[in-house]
Amino acid sequence: MQVALKIWRFDSRSGERALKEYEIDAPEWATLLDCLDIVKDQVDGTLSFRKSCRMMICGSCGMRMDGAAVLACKTRMYEIAESGHVPVISAMGNLPIVKDLVVDMEPFWTKLKAMKPYLQPGYEQPEDGREYQISQADMNAIQKEELCINCGCCVSECNAMESDPEFLGPQALAKGMRFVGDPRDGATVERLEQYSGEHGIWECTRCYFCNERCPKGVDPRDAIAKLGAEAISRGIDRDLGARHAKWFVKSAKTTGWLRETELVPKTQGVVSAISQMKFAMNLARHGKVPPPFPPHVARDVKESRKLHDLVREQDRGGAQGIVQTEKALGRIEFIRDHGASELES
Ligand code: SF4
Ligand code: SF4
Ligand code: FES
Repeated sequence: MQVALKIWRFDSRSGERALKEYEIDAPEWATLLDCLDIVKDQVDGTLSFRKSCRMMICGSCGMRMDGAAVLACKTRMYEIAESGHVPVISAMGNLPIVKDLVVDMEPFWTKLKAMKPYLQPGYEQPEDGREYQISQADMNAIQKEELCINCGCCVSECNAMESDPEFLGPQALAKGMRFVGDPRDGATVERLEQYSGEHGIWECTRCYFCNERCPKGVDPRDAIAKLGAEAISRGIDRDLGARHAKWFVKSAKTTGWLRETELVPKTQGVVSAISQMKFAMNLARHGKVPPPFPPHVARDVKESRKLHDLVREQDRGGAQGIVQTEKALGRIEFIRDHGASELES
């Protein structure tokens, strides 16, 4: 098949940058990585990109196609070439470019190391002296986080990192959850304290791009939600983000709505609320703020309360109470296709 690619070339030493188009002949099974190999072998040997395993294991070949991060060795080119589309290939975002499609991963590794990605001593040894057995429920809570191959695709697309490069980021936090959720780790509270600080858990904007782009299904945003839930369940809730989350739970339980009008006084205190009164009045004048009294109660508020009570009854505190995105989406799809009554049966 004929494959056309546009590739952003960049040389950090000279600062030269150019979008170059290449056309090659490739086998129908070719991936983006195979096509880049052909360009390098047959057209331009100066093209730079990283690769190693060619089978979605090593995490080396992260890059962007049409502005969204992909693993080059996972991306088949047949349908794209057949459609006549010419994709634009560029280096990953949120990391400095060294040359062409190669980024400097040092900031990525520094954040990963800051998470102490290894078990900390201090857990209780089993009395029989045999191996420590982890329950299936505990394993389920961290099973996805263990799948990470450190490719950086999530980091590339992270909105919060664009505005704060110091933000720990989706990959490092997902790795943090892998150890917070491991019952053998002896530093759970210390980890949660660290991850809840500045540039940590609560800085995530919940854009979900990391879940969308992760090629291994780690769902880092869900891992961050689990960390938040674990922190709150242990009383680590100094951050405004944690207090927002707590207020939203209460608000959803009592009225079935997220009552944002009361968010500031409930989470930042009355003094802060008064200092923002002028701003609030302006919003109200423009019809942007619903009146706080009487509180707007949802018609189906009983459903919301039932859900809240169910989670409490099942004792699904902390990470166990977080519903993974794909489970929630699967449930919605099932109800759409088969109806809610089938789900219950
Ligand atoms: S959900 Fe949070 S961590 Fe994930 S990409 Fe968005 S801002 Fe970054
Ligand atoms: S979480 Fe996913 S996208 Fe992010 S580094 Fe790990 S495997 Fe790659
Ligand atoms: S080359 Fe190893 S993940 Fe693509």
